[in-house]
Amino acid sequence: MDLGGTIPPQIGNLSFLVSLSIGNNSFHGSLPNELSRLFRLQFLDLSYNEFSGEIPPWMGLLNKLQILFLNGNNFEGSIPQSLSNISSLQQIDLAYNQLSGSIPSSIFKMPTLQQIVLYSNKLSGPMPASIFFNASSLQYINLGNNELSGGLSTYMFDHLPNLQFLSVAHNHFSGVLPEIGNLTMLTALFLYHNNFEGAIPSQIGRLQKLEQFAIYSNYFSGPILYEIFNISTLRNIKMAFNNLSGDLPSNMGLFLHNLQVLALHGNELSGTIPNSILNASQLIILDLGDNSFSSSIPKAIGNLRFLEALILGDNKLTIQSRELGSIFSSLSSCKFLRLFSLAKSHLNDVLPNSIGNLSTSLQRLGLHDCNIKGNIPEEIGNLSSLIDLTLNHNELGGPIPTTIG
Ligand SMILES: *[C@@H]1O[C@H](CO)[C@@H](O)[C@H](O)[C@H]1NC(C)=O
Ligand SMILES: *[C@@H]1O[C@H](CO)[C@@H](O)[C@H](O)[C@H]1NC(C)=O
Ligand SMILES: *[C@@H]1O[C@H](CO)[C@@H](O)[C@H](O)[C@H]1NC(C)=O
Ligand SMILES: *[C@@H]1O[C@H](CO)[C@@H](O)[C@H](O)[C@H]1NC(C)=O
Ligand SMILES: *[C@@H]1O[C@H](CO)[C@@H](O)[C@H](O)[C@H]1NC(C)=O
Ligand SMILES: *[C@@H]1O[C@H](CO)[C@@H](O)[C@H](O)[C@H]1NC(C)=O
Ligand SMILES: *[C@@H]1O[C@H](CO)[C@@H](O)[C@H](O)[C@H]1NC(C)=O
Ligand SMILES: *[C@@H]1O[C@H](CO)[C@@H](O)[C@H](O)[C@H]1NC(C)=O
Repeated sequence: MDLGGTIPPQIGNLSFLVSLSIGNNSFHGSLPNELSRLFRLQFLDLSYNEFSGEIPPWMGLLNKLQILFLNGNNFEGSIPQSLSNISSLQQIDLAYNQLSGSIPSSIFKMPTLQQIVLYSNKLSGPMPASIFFNASSLQYINLGNNELSGGLSTYMFDHLPNLQFLSVAHNHFSGVLPEIGNLTMLTALFLYHNNFEGAIPSQIGRLQKLEQFAIYSNYFSGPILYEIFNISTLRNIKMAFNNLSGDLPSNMGLFLHNLQVLALHGNELSGTIPNSILNASQLIILDLGDNSFSSSIPKAIGNLRFLEALILGDNKLTIQSRELGSIFSSLSSCKFLRLFSLAKSHLNDVLPNSIGNLSTSLQRLGLHDCNIKGNIPEEIGNLSSLIDLTLNHNELGGPIPTTIG
């Protein structure tokens, strides 16, 4: 309602208030102590204002609160231990503030708690081992975008049977992951941008409702287990920029009917690109770049009709003479293709005329360092949306077609 100003102490006189919702305004200043007299409050939403100062310790006196939304303000200082006294709390959202210090050890012990959002603060230190000890009702945990560090304790995820969403992304967590096989209700798991290492837990295959698996930018190592590819609900698999090695399982794509994004860029993966990838027919982004894949590309790659980005560059791919023509012809079925990179492959071929059959939606085409010989075909001029074409470091000859100009 575009309201501003501070909250007057007289608010404490409204002692029968059960619900106070003043979110999305421009109130500022600190919260008056008198607010602590509203002991009947069950619902308190102060989100998206400009409140500042510390979250007052008397907040713990509002022990009938079920909903506490303080997100989107300028609260600073640490999370008060007294919040653990709010025994009927169901949802707490402190995201987008300036909170610092560590998470108090037994703060989330209320058995009714369903949602914890601490996203985008400056919280630091280790995650208390017992943090989710009594949290069988928890459905949603977002601790992303903080400065939390240390390892996750071995039994941390054992007793969260209702958890659907878990993010600890963009922190400084390290060490190996505890087993996660008991998180059977999980639909998202976000661990990206941390320092996790070691293998991906083998029980991952028990997460049969998982839709998003994002662990990119860590130091995970070892092979990618088939169990991951056996989760048919997955829409996104993002494991780029780790230290994963070995071959992809040959039957990897068979059950990925819902997969839209497979990003494995910047690992140490080797072997061939399995033909079964073509069974993942909903793929929009397939990024296998900067690995050590060898051999060729599945012949019918264009069966992935919804592809918008196909990144295969920076591998050890080798394409036989005339094969490039059939790859381009196949890809002509991908009407939405915007980005295609094969850079740093051993093509040893000429650029076929069928390059002109690629989708007119193509904006970026990376074919540098590919041992391409011969002339650049006139047909390249058909690619009317092209804004980024790299052909450097090849063995091309002849004139540059006027169709490019
Ligand atoms: C309302 O609250 C103020 C400040 O807390 C107090 O001084 C005043 O007496 C209260 N008024 C009534 C009518 O209760
Ligand atoms: C504030 O606005 C957001 C976005 O429009 C909305 O989701 C939220 O419910 C609003 N909060 C309140 C307290 O009105
Ligand atoms: C929690 O509440 C109890 C009594 O209800 C009180 O003695 C204790 O000081 C409170 N703890 C905090 C941290 O506020
Ligand atoms: C866990 O919750 C139950 C109530 O469901 C309570 O009796 C018990 O004391 C709690 N345990 C801890 C460690 O807080
Ligand atoms: C999973 O849950 C079961 C039953 O609650 C428990 O016995 C087990 O220790 C938990 N942890 C793992 C890793 O399976
Ligand atoms: C694949 O998933 C199915 C359930 O969808 C399960 O029955 C089967 O055991 C899994 N296979 C492997 C190898 O994990
Ligand atoms: C990545 O794995 C290789 C062995 O596969 C190992 O030599 C290397 O140290 C690892 N790098 C990192 C950053 O973990
Ligand atoms: C995989 O694709 C092939 C070729 O289109 C098809 O014959 C096969 O039935 C598919 N397998 C599954 C499990 O969808």
